[in-house]
Amino acid sequence: MNSRSKAVYPGSFDPLTNGHLDVIRRSAAVFEVLTVAVVVNPQKREPMFTLEERKDLIRECTADLPNIEVMDFRGLLADFVRQIGADVIIKGLRVVSDFESELSTALMNRSLSGIDTMFLMSDAKYSFVSSSLIKEVFLLGGDVSGYVPEPVLRTMNSRRATVRAQN
Ligand code: PNS
Repeated sequence: MNSRSKAVYPGSFDPLTNGHLDVIRRSAAVFEVLTVAVVVNPQKREPMFTLEERKDLIRECTADLPNIEVMDFRGLLADFVRQIGADVIIKGLRVVSDFESELSTALMNRSLSGIDTMFLMSDAKYSFVSSSLIKEVFLLGGDVSGYVPEPVLRTMNSRRATVRAQN
């Protein structure tokens, strides 16, 4: 393999989960620099966390990793990866249905930018963990402490206290 020094791990990270963090740690062990790229406006729905909150939480949870940078991007991922001179895009795969959507995305991103996507299989213990499920369980009063890093949990709990105080 040619030297691949800079990888980009893109996502909404609304919020960062233990599954994301596992992919970040494993990627950071392989590439010289890993840029965690937070999309400004997630396509799915209104985010629970602001862009700055999402970035700050990633920074806090990866503070022990010297080769991580956290950036945001808007528009096409293919443009962003070219602009910052990245060599590869990283995506995590949890289940087969992830692969189905990621295949066309990876091919489109390579067609647009010439940059390949590399996939890491999620750790099996995180194969059912997604930000959207975490938010749903949390908002319905469930315990999400096993699925998100401690700083994320703390922020979510303080948010719940605020919501309770307002009601
Ligand atoms: O964490 P998510 O929500 O699954 O991340 C999705 C993300 C941000 C990776 C994806 O929505 C994305 O790449 N958005 C940028 C817009 C873009 O480039 N679209 C064309 C993809 S071929």
